[in-house]
Amino acid sequence: MKRRLKILCVAGARPNFMKVAPLMRALAAKAPFEVRLLHTGQHYDEKLSRVFFDDLDIPRPDIELEVGSGSHAAQTAEIIRRFEPVLEEEQPQAVLVVGDVNSTTACALVAAKFELSRANQFVWQFGRRRRPVTIHVEAGLRSGDRDMPEEINRRVTDAISDLLFVSDPAGVVNLRDEGVDPQRVFYVGNVMIDTLVAARDRAMRSRVLEDLGLRERQFGVVTLHRPSNVDDPDKLRALLRILDRLATPACPLVFPVHPRTRSRVEASGIIFDPARWRITGPLGYLDFLKLQALARIVFTDSGGVQEETTILGVPCLTLRDNTERPVTVSEGTNLLVGTDEERVLQGVATATSGRRNGGMPRYWDGQAARRIAEVLSRVFVAPMEWRVSRRASSVGPSRVPGPTPEMDSAKP
Ligand code: UD1
Ligand code: UDP
Repeated sequence: MKRRLKILCVAGARPNFMKVAPLMRALAAKAPFEVRLLHTGQHYDEKLSRVFFDDLDIPRPDIELEVGSGSHAAQTAEIIRRFEPVLEEEQPQAVLVVGDVNSTTACALVAAKFELSRANQFVWQFGRRRRPVTIHVEAGLRSGDRDMPEEINRRVTDAISDLLFVSDPAGVVNLRDEGVDPQRVFYVGNVMIDTLVAARDRAMRSRVLEDLGLRERQFGVVTLHRPSNVDDPDKLRALLRILDRLATPACPLVFPVHPRTRSRVEASGIIFDPARWRITGPLGYLDFLKLQALARIVFTDSGGVQEETTILGVPCLTLRDNTERPVTVSEGTNLLVGTDEERVLQGVATATSGRRNGGMPRYWDGQAARRIAEVLSRVFVAPMEWRVSRRASSVGPSRVPGPTPEMDSAKP
């Protein structure tokens, strides 16, 4: 019996939507795949979720878990609880997760232990398969900081995934050092940058600068949502004071406030002078991309923003002591400055001196999702050869074919 291969893509929080958008398109363009989208509902506000479906032309999710917010344990548990019946119903041959949020890890964990019904077990190029193949896109990133919830999510997800697609060259080294079979690892570039490349022209038509009364290169952008920066009121207040001293009427700071940060900013007691600040809620992708592209400088603790500013060639000061995306520092425009005032001021001086132009990391060229779709076509074998197993009673090892020269895991 010939069957299409069902891949269930998972998204749940803001940075997931930019990553699944190009993957959904690239996979749907390949004949063997039937692509389904699941939204866990980890993020649910219009400005953290739906706006990206509109901005990026992502089809509405086929399945919504509507888990909402909660502690790490409660949210993760709720996703796990609600995801299992979906796998029962959908019986996908692969589950694809992106990034490092709770939705990523929770769904990978369920998929990695889920047994397909006998009729849906299958044979792929490397043996029989009783479970869906778990695919992690943006694998291998490590900040080395285990106090960061995402670092736990990254390690767990990579440890249980079958196929690991890597965006930062350091990720290949990290996975090798952790003993991961290199045949499961593919350096393919950055799907988040696929979205940037595809949306850039449209973003430049946004009227966000006019709406906020800003002029090209005469403003800075701020985003803050890491628990290490925003959960402790004293730490947040100190950080905002540093930024407040940098904001001027000639170069105001635009601060689209993440919901995690909102109540804490209000409680900080900082009065934002409207001549020097533009405070907004979270912005849509196109508006925010235009702001980043035309800013003089960006201050952030976001992962994705470090990557986007690298490709846009805009100076980025990362208000953290570590990054899981070191290529943005070694080849891009990113400077790790932490949260100490002196280092931030030094960083501003370096960033605005024009001595760092940045460059493009290998394969951050808008084609990462296409590379992933090609690898998946290969490992699941051409559709004519792909069969649902009649006697799927044992599992082969989770081997995948060696990398192509273009996607060589050993050569990021
Ligand atoms: C999550 C991710 C983080 C990612 C960020 C992107 C985890 C552990 N964290 O952090 O890696 O960088 O998303 O933005 O997965 N809230 C709303 N509306 C929403 C969603 C959340 O008001 O639509 C509020 C709730 O009060 C919630 C808080 O924001 O408790 C935090 O949300 P949560 O998804 O737990 O973590 P984020 O800080 O958003
Ligand atoms: N972003 C956005 N609107 C905003 C702030 C960020 O569209 O107001 C986009 C940003 O361009 C990037 C993504 O959100 O594509 C980054 O997500 P976030 O910072 O929430 O998460 P992280 O990357 O830190 O996990």
